[in-house]
Amino acid sequence: MQIAPSILTADFCELGKLMEELVSEGIDWIHLDVMDGNWVINKTITFGPSLVRSIRQKLGPEIFIDCHLMITNAEETWEQYVDAGVNLVIFHIEAVNDANVLIDNLHSSGCQAGIVLNPDTPASEVLPYLSKLDLVLVMSVVPGKGGQSFMPEMESKIREFRLAINNQIDSGGLPTKLMIDGGIKHYNASLVKSWGIDVAVIGSGIINDNGTVEENLKEITSAL
Ligand code: DX5
Ligand code: ZN
Repeated sequence: MQIAPSILTADFCELGKLMEELVSEGIDWIHLDVMDGNWVINKTITFGPSLVRSIRQKLGPEIFIDCHLMITNAEETWEQYVDAGVNLVIFHIEAVNDANVLIDNLHSSGCQAGIVLNPDTPASEVLPYLSKLDLVLVMSVVPGKGGQSFMPEMESKIREFRLAINNQIDSGGLPTKLMIDGGIKHYNASLVKSWGIDVAVIGSGIINDNGTVEENLKEITSAL
């Protein structure tokens, strides 16, 4: 299982240093949480395309960057994130009118496409798009902030996606990746791995846990 750090709870004045630490620890995937002050229930604003572009410039072309869009107008603004240099745009199924069009637009622009669903959204809302998706993200917290408690009841939804993706791969389809986001720490990382997760987003468990970034990452990877 791959680890994708989220920088949401970082000290934004120290982002460059954090990026260097993460890369020197072998991290090759960064998860960027974009909130527009409107879509998430707590109305948080995080950052937009300018910071995404700076992070791409800092990291160089080798690091995989995904953008988790928690915004009302992904269908109008997705191109700004592609232009800023992300490899994968993940949009909320609850926030778009026509997921097929957005997936096709992303693919035509050379960007990977992912769909994310809230804890109370059933898998059936996303399964019709699975054969076209590079990634499915299951939220294990209500989106809006870092440091929330993990929702273990997401297990059945994750297993449903794992089964559908395995069937898709067995019949020659896309190897859609399965990602989880929210409340993952060193003590539950191996549990979600056992459910068949390919990529786990981890924010506060890397940045705000007891040790340094290096120590926290080592604790997580040794638990895997
Ligand atoms: C929540 C974000 C998550 C979050 C993860 O809205 O999508 O990426 O920052 O942070 P932790 O790992 O602290 O739950
Ligand atoms: Zn996220």
